[in-house]
Amino acid sequence: MKLVVAKDYEEMSKLAAQEMANVVQNKPEAVLGLATGGTPVAMYKELIKMNKEGQVDFSKVTSINLDEYVGLSGNHDQSYRYFMNTNLFNHINIDKTKTFVPNGLAEDIEKECKEYDERIANLGGIDCQLLGIGNNGHVGFNEPNEELSLGTHLTSLKEDTIKANARFFNSIDEVPTQAVTMGLGGIMKAKKIILIASGEGKAEIIEKLLKGKITTQVPASMLQMHNNVVVIVDEAAAKLVI
Ligand code: GLP
Repeated sequence: MKLVVAKDYEEMSKLAAQEMANVVQNKPEAVLGLATGGTPVAMYKELIKMNKEGQVDFSKVTSINLDEYVGLSGNHDQSYRYFMNTNLFNHINIDKTKTFVPNGLAEDIEKECKEYDERIANLGGIDCQLLGIGNNGHVGFNEPNEELSLGTHLTSLKEDTIKANARFFNSIDEVPTQAVTMGLGGIMKAKKIILIASGEGKAEIIEKLLKGKITTQVPASMLQMHNNVVVIVDEAAAKLVI
């Protein structure tokens, strides 16, 4: 894994946006795997700016998101579809019909998961997958467990994840307890992976990601086995590894 340490959140966001833009500049019809959470917000702002200034063109890009809460419609302001629309898609020249987020309201979740994986395969795989990281080492919503799943699947959120994500909701009781997430297989098959993290709160998990054992209890540690991962963090998140 290649580690890039940025001065602060702003620089981390700019470097990650540039890295993602390079993928699209080299392959205009790239398939981008996208992520939500607090961390990528400024990176998406930077990509919007680059798009408006004509430095990157998303007109031929397809995007496929990592995950979605079960039970929230795409219009719910905490759904990941809504997040993607408001933080990125509404402001760039991407064709919205080529942006995919799992359907958290699917009646048949198993079918939804199967079709999501088929879609990724039919698209020829993901050229570049963006990842954040949960404090407990989750990627997407692949939570620490005895076993990890290969494909897209339904998962129950751990208590610490529900607590961490409660900050976006009016109260902790409103946080969905289940999600549909791409599995570790889908993520690991991406040709390139960019993982971003910022702030002291992520320092311990970044140390585990880079130097810890490969274990299903730290799902992100699987990335150590991928041959094209760039970890872009700010100094605060890197404080235990530099
Ligand atoms: C969420 C998302 C992840 C994200 C992580 C970290 O639960 N499912 O994709 O990477 O938590 O979020 P944040 O960037 O807000 O720290």
